[in-house]
Amino acid sequence: MSTFPERRLRRTRRTPAMRRLSTENHLAAAQLVLPVFVKEGIDAPLPIASMPGVMQHPLEAIAGVVTDAADAGIGGIMLFGVPAVRDATGSGAVADDGILNRAIRVAREAARGRITVQADLCLDEFTDHGHCGLLAADGSVDNDATLEVYAEMALAQARAGAEVLGLSGMMDGQVAVIRAALDAAGYSDVAILAYSAKYASAFYGPFRDAVESTLEGDRRTYQLDPANGREGLAEAVQDIAEGADYVMVKPAGPYLDVLARVADASTVPVWAYQVSGEYAMIELAARAGAIDRDRAIAESLVGIRRAGADVILTYWAREVAEWIRAGK
Ligand code: PBG
Repeated sequence: MSTFPERRLRRTRRTPAMRRLSTENHLAAAQLVLPVFVKEGIDAPLPIASMPGVMQHPLEAIAGVVTDAADAGIGGIMLFGVPAVRDATGSGAVADDGILNRAIRVAREAARGRITVQADLCLDEFTDHGHCGLLAADGSVDNDATLEVYAEMALAQARAGAEVLGLSGMMDGQVAVIRAALDAAGYSDVAILAYSAKYASAFYGPFRDAVESTLEGDRRTYQLDPANGREGLAEAVQDIAEGADYVMVKPAGPYLDVLARVADASTVPVWAYQVSGEYAMIELAARAGAIDRDRAIAESLVGIRRAGADVILTYWAREVAEWIRAGK
């Protein structure tokens, strides 16, 4: 006797308890990383208008931010520096007393091994022109000259105590050059997170407010064309060959297909960065009454996980860790 339909897929969705049995993907606080902005020369936190709920922190607040994040059980903090002075070569990035390197020292001390201390390794916050590298006479970004500064910046961050360096500048050869520089100086334990598939994205808009970016023009000669998936995979494969410990896809939400492809092919853990514009879209749409904020946050994050991310950088890391703890 034939019945219709032969397989009733709704059966396993009938009750909350039945649904819980079938959940394929979970978020873990230990695999969330919180980006943190530290600004030189302020003495109280400053809100970032385009990122409601996110602050620029004074150096004095960093120890507290780190302790709080560690208490919440999240996996790491990724530090970004906003220096008081910028110049053509980004010298504040390599100076031991530059704002980012000072913040790393404070964070590492406060962390006491309970949370990993990570640092953005890129020149854009430190150059007066806002590009991620040094400019050649014709105004183009000089790849190989930039690599020499990146190597110095890596050493300064390692000296300060950073455990994971986030290479976000998209220069060719940056992983190999920084790995060699770290190893030669005795920092073979410092890990490299390669922002491999980093797209030239409109979704970085609020971040540029957060770091007070001076950039005019765009980053299309070094960041990837949003139309290209295969190229994102090629960047990840190349970075793994150069010695990356982790590879990243960024932004996350608009690039879940790239994330899935990288996750399939990668031999190292895959990270994704839910960027400032993804954050702002949900916060602002929720404030306008268009969507349910908490559900949209949870759905955006589990989608990134489902696509294949092991670790997620998100501005909601702190709050979501609390939800996970509460079993929400
Ligand atoms: C470069 C860097 C950027 C972001 C992280 N690292 C900006 C850029 O490439 O323009 C963006 C992060 C975000 O939008 O949340 N230092």
